[in-house]
Amino acid sequence: MSNAVISVAELKKSFKEQEVLKGVDFEVRRGEVFALLGSNGAGKTTVVNILSTLMKPDEGKASICDFDVQHQPEQVRHNISLTGQFAALDGLLTGRENLMMIAKLRGVANPGQVADNLLAKFSLSNAANRRADRYSGGMKRRLDIALSLIGKPAVIFLDEPTTGLDPEARMEVWKTIKKLAGGGATILLTTQYLEEAEQLADRIAILHGGKIIATGTLTELKEMFPPAKVEYIEKQPTLEEIFLAIIGKGEDVNEQ
Ligand SMILES: Nc1ncnc2c1ncn2[C@@H]1O[C@H](COP(=O)(O)OP(=O)(O)O)[C@@H](O)[C@H]1O
Ligand SMILES: [Mg+2]
Repeated sequence: MSNAVISVAELKKSFKEQEVLKGVDFEVRRGEVFALLGSNGAGKTTVVNILSTLMKPDEGKASICDFDVQHQPEQVRHNISLTGQFAALDGLLTGRENLMMIAKLRGVANPGQVADNLLAKFSLSNAANRRADRYSGGMKRRLDIALSLIGKPAVIFLDEPTTGLDPEARMEVWKTIKKLAGGGATILLTTQYLEEAEQLADRIAILHGGKIIATGTLTELKEMFPPAKVEYIEKQPTLEEIFLAIIGKGEDVNEQ
């Protein structure tokens, strides 16, 4: 199977009457940062839940590192980490204790060393011995992402890594994700922020109305957009304009 690390074909999922995924297709290549961009309720978390074996699709096929998510869930879990929309750390433990606990659970050699390295990498060394529930929102999210790196998973899922953060904390988390991207892992992140996809992703897929309606680099997406109106200076469309053009202007983006 090509060099796709994540491969998704014709994925369908309904909740009772509501058809959330109506045939989702995309591939993510090794080492790539791939953004799944969609409005609130588009089905991003549903895709991530299926890919991380937490939920079964109704139809379709998905694989991670050539392991089938439905038939080889153990192997899939072995190759991934998932950072959800809400911080999964233990607030009663310190940052360092949280890291140590997960390192031990995952059977990593030298858990103390691993914890200290990650604390340093994510600029949390000074807060290492403070309880995690005393951390700011941005620090919690950084610790959460650090936790997901333990055991060096091949594929990292970041589900809305900056939702609910203030602009400053969002920038901190962006820096963190940019560092991750340099480490060779394949990253699938979901976001409802166009700017976030633009900042972080090598390629972007737009999930809308239960399908991927466009996939490409920012440059490719810009090419799909009708040429910029030439006045005196040619103005490049923003990703927001591209998004609105693709899904059809005037349509309520929150309406599914
Ligand atoms: N377990 C569930 N049971 C019923 N409906 C769900 C469930 N999970 C998600 N949904 C619905 O599916 C739609 C997509 O949800 P979700 O994947 O969380 O979207 P996103 O992450 O893009 O905001 C929403 O309308 C949501 O209410
Ligand atoms: Mg979600």
